[in-house]
Amino acid sequence: MSNQKIIVTGGCGYIGSHTTVALQNAGYNVVIFDNLANSTPETLDRITEITGVRPMFEKIDCTDIDAVRDAFDRHGDATGVIHFAALKAVGESVSYPLMYYKNNLVSLINVLEMMTAFNIENIVFSSSATVYGAPDTLPATEDTPTRAATSPYGQTKIMAETIIRDTVAANPKMHAVLLRYFNPIGAHPSGKIGELPRGVPNNLMPYITQVACGQREKLNVFGDDYPTPDGFCVRDYIDVNDLADAHIAALRHMIDSGDDIDVFNIGTGRGLSVMEIIRTFERATGVKINYTITARRPGDVPAIWACADKAAKVLGWRAKTPLDDTMRAAWLWQQNISKN
Ligand code: NAD
Ligand code: UFG
Repeated sequence: MSNQKIIVTGGCGYIGSHTTVALQNAGYNVVIFDNLANSTPETLDRITEITGVRPMFEKIDCTDIDAVRDAFDRHGDATGVIHFAALKAVGESVSYPLMYYKNNLVSLINVLEMMTAFNIENIVFSSSATVYGAPDTLPATEDTPTRAATSPYGQTKIMAETIIRDTVAANPKMHAVLLRYFNPIGAHPSGKIGELPRGVPNNLMPYITQVACGQREKLNVFGDDYPTPDGFCVRDYIDVNDLADAHIAALRHMIDSGDDIDVFNIGTGRGLSVMEIIRTFERATGVKINYTITARRPGDVPAIWACADKAAKVLGWRAKTPLDDTMRAAWLWQQNISKN
């Protein structure tokens, strides 16, 4: 058990809330910095119900340097930062690029500046498989070349990785882990926390659960003519609780090893098609999904999945939740939010 304090920016969001649960269950003291731009304060109550501990909370916008400085001043005793705070809607980022560059990059720069000022030396950053674009060979390893992103959102991840690398290179005391998430899905098994999409979901899993509960009529399956075994797009779907655990493994490794910078793919190592996901959801929950095949979605890569060997070898972390359990948790969460 650890009683170290960890600052979790974006901790009221989807991945941040699950990571806060995992951190608190492992004995860390968590302080969340979040402006609630894409989350609600009730998440703090749910985390408290699950763990028996209420995380500390600073309602701040990480782009506001004065607010960030004040918050670091109150929590300068933290051992590390896990930086989730970002906007993440790919399509919205194409329409509002400056909002995305400002929010995602100014937040990161402010956090790094204050980490330097307060001698907080460890950061875990939420990167994405989007940095690989459509790789020439699969699975994607950490050495697969990164590609110019097709959206401002994806570009913020590439730029953020560079900003962190340069900051660590210039500061011998600083350590960083870049976690490149594949496709996070699912919810806490209690059904008390999960993904809360604003409006029409962009992502597959919340769309499926909204169709399952009757909130949407049918799922549009984007394309059936991809060069994949069944013609549908292939992704690596990682359970959000497993993803949360990866952050703890990364923190521990960073603090123990003293490595300057490390990068890890966080996925299962297995690619699944959209149709396999639909069929697995139906089997796991007993609920049929009404769908129709439509045109390909612009910008979608045909297939990507992770080589997750490095995280297994170096962090001792691997995905462990059976996909059926992930589906049932997502469905339980959807039923809980549909009630309210
Ligand atoms: P989310 O929107 O659920 O959570 C992000 C949280 O950050 C929200 O609570 C939001 O209110 C907060 N936030 C945003 N801007 C802020 C700011 N300026 N100041 C303070 N708080 C701010 O998103 P998520 O799915 O939990 O994603 C977390 C991180 O993981 C993001 O960096 C995202 O880009 C990255 N990521 C997500 C996915 C995915 O599919 N969910 C995949 C790869 C990477
Ligand atoms: N899909 C559908 N119908 C939908 C939604 C999605 O068929 O209504 C398909 C997509 O075509 C894709 C798969 O389901 O093949 C997964 O799509 P998601 O939108 O859930 O996830 P993506 O792989 O497109 O998105 C991920 C991350 C983003 C990241 C993006 C980069 O969630 O953070 O990759 O391409 F930016």
